[in-house]
Amino acid sequence: MELTYPRKIDLARTPTPLQYLERASRKWGCGHRLWVKRDDLTGCTLSGNKVRKLEFIAAHAIDHGYDTLITCGGLQSNHCRATAFAGAQLGLGVHLLLRGDAPQDTEGNLLLDHLAGATVNCYSKRQYVAELDALFGQWQQYYSDRGRKALAIPTGGSDGIGAWGYIGACEELLADFRACDITQAHIVTASGSGGTQAGLTLGAALHDLPATVWGINVCDDEQYFLDKVAADAADWRRRYPGVPHVDIQARVIDGHVGQGYGIAGDEVFRLIADLAALEGLVLDPVYTGKAFAGMLAEIAAGRFEDCRDIVFMHTGGIFGLFPQRSGFAW
Ligand SMILES: Cc1ncc(COP(=O)(O)O)c(C=O)c1O
Repeated sequence: MELTYPRKIDLARTPTPLQYLERASRKWGCGHRLWVKRDDLTGCTLSGNKVRKLEFIAAHAIDHGYDTLITCGGLQSNHCRATAFAGAQLGLGVHLLLRGDAPQDTEGNLLLDHLAGATVNCYSKRQYVAELDALFGQWQQYYSDRGRKALAIPTGGSDGIGAWGYIGACEELLADFRACDITQAHIVTASGSGGTQAGLTLGAALHDLPATVWGINVCDDEQYFLDKVAADAADWRRRYPGVPHVDIQARVIDGHVGQGYGIAGDEVFRLIADLAALEGLVLDPVYTGKAFAGMLAEIAAGRFEDCRDIVFMHTGGIFGLFPQRSGFAW
């Protein structure tokens, strides 16, 4: 389908490789071929899935005269860190509104946020949840009073603009599928704010990618992500009225959140260690580790039986591993 993309700024090293996991397929595949789309390799500090979204969001910001990016997330948000580095790379100010009291040790993504020169405000969970919209408004006003213009970027960069990132990734996957003799696949991704899943779901439909896209939620529940994918797709259509109409159906696999967002069980830490030793591939305990564990459980339960190939989107997150190193102390 002919698609006119909005301008993007080159931040990510794409196309990323589609890598076959030979030993993991033997160990856990139950006859499937397991592949991993290496979006953890989109760059070094600008790593992971967020960079694909930020390529379009940053272009939108610059084209509309914004000089500052305000965004939000958890203390160890990969999206916030990626935004901090995108801003530094492009000469834009970055202001991060983080959920949680400022920790004593500044490490992982938070350390990188500071190194990138971002302004960081930490808010208690209660205040963050109750006042996030007001905080965005307050800081935008702050910049406006000083003659500047700040763009509010939603959690995870997940909206109609960010959706283009994974719509574009589906074109890459089309070429990957051809090169790897994949005629039909299931694509599995971690869902945290839903934007990656929304982009992939839209992109698969727009590009006739022979694949079914599944989000494994790492927070909230199935209904939340069904609604969120629909909302991001609706925002995408509203912002770009000329885009082709496609019917989409979001698919969410619930049941792998464990004890809550950012809290992984022993089995996830063990899987991260096993996969690192087996394939040299590192997952994180917040997103990709949980989603990979969920994918293996679903393979074992026979959910993907109708086709041979399963593609796991490695969405990055490595810096979130280090603050959770105590999880490996068995
Ligand atoms: C490493 C990683 N993987 C997956 C996700 C989920 O992506 P999305 O927020 O687009 O659902 C995120 C962010 O939330 C992330 O940081």
